[in-house]
Amino acid sequence: MSQQQRRPWIVGVSGASGTPFAASVLRGLLAAGESVDLVVSRASRLTLLDETGIAFRDAHWREDLRGWLARGADGKPDTFAVSEEGLDGVRHWAAGDLAAGPSSGSYPAKGMLIVPASTACVAGVALGLSKDLLQRAASVTLKERRKLVVVVRETPLSGQTLKQMVALDEAGAVVLPASPAFYAGATHIQDLVDFVAGRVLDAAGVPHQLYRRWEGELGGSRSS
Ligand SMILES: Cc1cc2nc3c(=O)[nH]c(=O)nc-3n(C[C@H](O)[C@H](O)[C@H](O)COP(=O)(O)O)c2cc1C
Repeated sequence: MSQQQRRPWIVGVSGASGTPFAASVLRGLLAAGESVDLVVSRASRLTLLDETGIAFRDAHWREDLRGWLARGADGKPDTFAVSEEGLDGVRHWAAGDLAAGPSSGSYPAKGMLIVPASTACVAGVALGLSKDLLQRAASVTLKERRKLVVVVRETPLSGQTLKQMVALDEAGAVVLPASPAFYAGATHIQDLVDFVAGRVLDAAGVPHQLYRRWEGELGGSRSS
């Protein structure tokens, strides 16, 4: 695909717990044939290291991303098959690169998914701080009236964060807490993760088969 035709989803990964949510969203976007521009915040490298053992390096992002996407939420390293070519739809930008494409509204993008979103990120985007590329890209997404999905991961939530979440909602963002449901028949951690990721892709309008949808029948989750 030429750069002219390419219209990616920007995926921002901030430093909240929940790197398996990001991996599931990324796999879902790529499986749907979407292009992705990936921004991994500095703080999220700590959560990624803590949750997966992977030290994400800008200079070796393909190798590190491949290991991350192959990993299941239960920690098994080769749960998902991720080929080298499978990452061809991904473009990576360093979090400190404020001259990167997603810094500008003229850069073609479908929208942005922040998954997971730390409370610091929620505050920064609500206030328009643009302290790094992730927050700048989110502000650009809002000003261009494109879809912004913010997958908050914190509990309990302070009044301050709740007010900032309302501000994001009023600015047009979809505030989507990383909050799995149990009606879809989850039996493994991956199912709970994929439910949240599936709801993110629903909000973005990207087709997927990450979870079983409610069909209007109580007890449906126990029938298979
Ligand atoms: C292991 C670890 C887990 C964390 N989990 C969360 C979390 O679940 N939610 C949250 O809001 N912050 C969490 N934090 C704190 C954020 O990383 C911190 O506020 C950071 O400044 C966020 O920066 P960023 O939004 O630029 O990525 C965690 C930090 C560490 C080291």
